[in-house]
Amino acid sequence: MPPSESATRLPPGPDTAVTLGIDPETLETLTYLQREYGDMVGMTKPSGRLTYFINDPAEVRRILVRRHVRYQKGPGFERVKMLLGNGLIVSDGDAWRRSRTMIQPAFKVQNVHRLIGVMIGCSDRRAVAWAAAAERGDTVNITEETNEFALELILISIFGDDYENRFMKEGDNPFAFLSKDSTRDLSVVMKVRALRNLVLEIIEERRSRNEESLDFLSMYMRATDKNGEPFSDEELLDEVMTLVVAGFETSANTLNWVWYVISGHPDIEQSLIDEAGRWVPTVDAVTAENLTEMRYTQQVLEETLRLYPPVWLFTRRSIEEDELEQYDVPPGTDIYLSPYILHRSEHIWPNANDFDPDRFALVEGKPRKDRPYFPFSLGPRRCLGEYFSFLEMKVHLGLLLPRFRMQRVEDDDPGLELAINLRSKRDILLKPSVR
Ligand code: HEM
Repeated sequence: MPPSESATRLPPGPDTAVTLGIDPETLETLTYLQREYGDMVGMTKPSGRLTYFINDPAEVRRILVRRHVRYQKGPGFERVKMLLGNGLIVSDGDAWRRSRTMIQPAFKVQNVHRLIGVMIGCSDRRAVAWAAAAERGDTVNITEETNEFALELILISIFGDDYENRFMKEGDNPFAFLSKDSTRDLSVVMKVRALRNLVLEIIEERRSRNEESLDFLSMYMRATDKNGEPFSDEELLDEVMTLVVAGFETSANTLNWVWYVISGHPDIEQSLIDEAGRWVPTVDAVTAENLTEMRYTQQVLEETLRLYPPVWLFTRRSIEEDELEQYDVPPGTDIYLSPYILHRSEHIWPNANDFDPDRFALVEGKPRKDRPYFPFSLGPRRCLGEYFSFLEMKVHLGLLLPRFRMQRVEDDDPGLELAINLRSKRDILLKPSVR
């Protein structure tokens, strides 16, 4: 038990202080604590701060949905803030509410549907590279490929024609390091700062041209709050940089794992190919309606996100008193929530470590809502890009899988790299052959 304040009711937990971060040791520690003490664990950190690890589905939901105003973002987000500024992912309170209201319309389904052509173009460019690799008998590094696919897609979605005119003209995409270098430390902070200057130039140039386009940057530039005020330049830059990073790493990592899983499950691979053949046999058939019909692909993606949720750990800090189960949550308590651990808890998901897309099959025509699952978080801070990401991943798989057989060249498990995002520890290499 942590040292208890007189009347505070605390969940069971270890007597000694526990160090937690966003790293592999933290996954081991939290897994051990859950096994030892159950789904509600109380502890203190070396700083003396009261900390809870919560794996109880109803309480996770309560924190993220009904009681979300009692919590703000917790430890770990200061690193993201250093990198991206105070954009949607890290902002809290009134600043977050204002930005979310201004940005949300850009993510309406009809706006996302306008990007299907860009998703097709980005998939086609991968097809050209893979066909060339197949011809040479080379392997492709699917980790790099999915990174490049998702980064190019989000950059074109944000910057429209400026992607080609400003970033690619000089030959070298200045954002490319984001997809090649997975570190997010101080050296990257400096490079990201340089990108902000470039984005500011584009913003100023667009203002002088007074042209309206339909990409995310233009929509963000036109957005106004309830007093009719637009974002300041600083706010706009924070939101654009947030969108670049939030919009590509997560989808890229999911696709990386999907390719890895498919290459080990020929039956699942065949069902995906059959479905793509039914709904997207040609590029012209890649429409929002047909993509919605690709239920099995959706199930495979959902199952991948269950086993490999890119945001494997979230944190919150209570700003008001709360009560969870029979325990008190004093203001200032750090809360750790882990989709990775919850999605792999045997008592919640039987045979949790098996990859089985049928878990997500519709029941009476509807998705099951009775099992705890939160790769995109829950409640008002739920991911804004969820629909965008499913669409991009379906286009990518629907167009590439029927064209290429991708074989594993290494038998060992690629392992987990547990940073802000859950990546594969080593890059995954696959050998393409044209079907
Ligand atoms: C498989 C893909 C993705 C996953 C698993 C994912 C997951 C998440 C999660 C868990 C959060 C909440 C984090 C927290 O509250 O602590 C989040 C927030 C967010 N995501 Fe995603 N994301 C994905 C793709 C995307 C894409 C493609 C975009 C943009 C195009 C995007 C934009 C955002 C934004 C703007 C937020 C902040 C929302 C807010 O706080 O109001 N995400 N995402």
